[in-house]
Amino acid sequence: AGTGTFFVGGNWKCNGTKESITKLVSDLNNAKLESDVDVVVAPPFVYIDQVKSSLNGRIEIAAQNSWVSKGGAFTGEISVEQLKDTGCKWVILGHSERRHVIGEDNQFIGKKAAYALGQGLGVIACIGELLEEREAGKTFDVCYQQLKAFADAVPSWDNIVIAYEPVWAIGTGVVATPVQAQEVHVAVRDWLKNNVSAEVASKTRIIYGGSVNGGNCAELAKQEDIDGFLVGGASLKGPEFATIVNSVT
Ligand code: G3P
Repeated sequence: AGTGTFFVGGNWKCNGTKESITKLVSDLNNAKLESDVDVVVAPPFVYIDQVKSSLNGRIEIAAQNSWVSKGGAFTGEISVEQLKDTGCKWVILGHSERRHVIGEDNQFIGKKAAYALGQGLGVIACIGELLEEREAGKTFDVCYQQLKAFADAVPSWDNIVIAYEPVWAIGTGVVATPVQAQEVHVAVRDWLKNNVSAEVASKTRIIYGGSVNGGNCAELAKQEDIDGFLVGGASLKGPEFATIVNSVT
């Protein structure tokens, strides 16, 4: 970790019930979290209100997605305005599951990011390559294209955290090695320097996601350009998530 305040997000994805979330929130409220870490959790939309009203205020809320424009006649979507109304401060955009399962493309994701930032939400902007892209030596190209789509669309990088999540590491138990992750994080920072500005490159936090757990977080957190984590499965367990938050070095 080397840039800004360490940032750890828990992406609960499409998991949980009122009951399990009550227990998770209570574990989070009881956890001892290092003070110098930005911590957010992203519950499913329908539980945001429950989580917001029961969390003790130490942890901010992120949404897992947002609509690309002002709300209205968009059946099944949730607007940025509604997310702000329920107390969200962040939104995760470009997650691999939305790219590869739902079919969102770079341009659409860029537009969503621009709209959310314009309304004052912070954006956790996800990028990352598929296994076949890594094996074909295309990791950097894929990440650069995804970054470019964000860069082309957003008015400023002040409120963006980049999450590098190699798709082959998500939910597989196959975590990127510290060296593999650091290599891409440096490349992302260089890309920002060459294509946005040196200032943005030096200030933007780049967090890692993909099979992060209580056992592997410490080694990853030691890497110079790993400025935090985006955690899936392990964020559903309060004590383990706390261990990951506290891996800040
Ligand atoms: O957004 C976080 C995520 O995709 C990583 O999931 O379960 O591999 O930690 P997981």
